[in-house]
Amino acid sequence: MTAKPVVHYELPSDLQPDRLPRHVAVIMDGNGRWAKQRGLPRVMGHRRGVDTLKQLLRCCRDWGIEALTAYAFSTENWGRPIQEVDFLMTLFERVLRQELNEMMQEDVRIRFVGNLTSLPESLQQEISGAMVQTQDNQGISFTVATNYGGRQEIVQAARAIARAVQAGLLEPEHITEAVFSQYLYTAEICDPDLLIRTSGEMRISNFLLWQLAYAEMYVTETLWPDFNVAEFHQAVSAYQQRDRRFGKVKS
Ligand code: IPE
Ligand code: IPE
Ligand code: MG
Repeated sequence: MTAKPVVHYELPSDLQPDRLPRHVAVIMDGNGRWAKQRGLPRVMGHRRGVDTLKQLLRCCRDWGIEALTAYAFSTENWGRPIQEVDFLMTLFERVLRQELNEMMQEDVRIRFVGNLTSLPESLQQEISGAMVQTQDNQGISFTVATNYGGRQEIVQAARAIARAVQAGLLEPEHITEAVFSQYLYTAEICDPDLLIRTSGEMRISNFLLWQLAYAEMYVTETLWPDFNVAEFHQAVSAYQQRDRRFGKVKS
């Protein structure tokens, strides 16, 4: 068997290594349009989109970015035709199975966030296996938002907090932003610094509503299957030119 050549992405010299986003989040949008433009069924765009994500993950890791979060399936995406939903669920499962060895080799820790209990049983098993197997990996933290909705996440946190209060474990006065964050799916992950959305849509579509409070947003017209390292370079370069004031005035 011949070994696959290992691609290594060098940090471009115009990017400042000490000012990289710690956490990049992506709304991977435009797969359907990409396929339609080529006269292909929509699902072919999803298949191609997997390659884009693999390349971006490797690039982030090589550049020294700590965390990448990708929006794979929203709570609203159940409203799509059943064939497309089924295709996506099967794709997630197959890709996870196929990529697990490589994620181990590349020191990737994978997590899934969202309401995972409504996913197909076999996918849930693949997910929990991958999360356990990669839990000590430190190369990059990779989070996949699947059956994820920002509002749903906040509601489930509110319920868990209410239960803790009811059980006498928490005082209402002690519910701070920091405490609330601990009840979100992302408790162990820092908030995203940079949000990238492909395909030109200027909206959040129910993604990480709490966590994106101060993220810098970058929208590109490029459709997700065409998004590549050169585009990512542009996004990070734009990010490094932003003045992140966090509501303060410039010192
Ligand atoms: C994003 O691409 C992938 C998912 C939402 C699963 P779309 O499927 O939304 O592609 P467009 O927006 O219809 O082109
Ligand atoms: C957002 O894309 C969800 C994912 C990328 C998984 P959508 O295509 O579902 O969002 P809308 O419908 O354009 O808001
Ligand atoms: Mg879309």
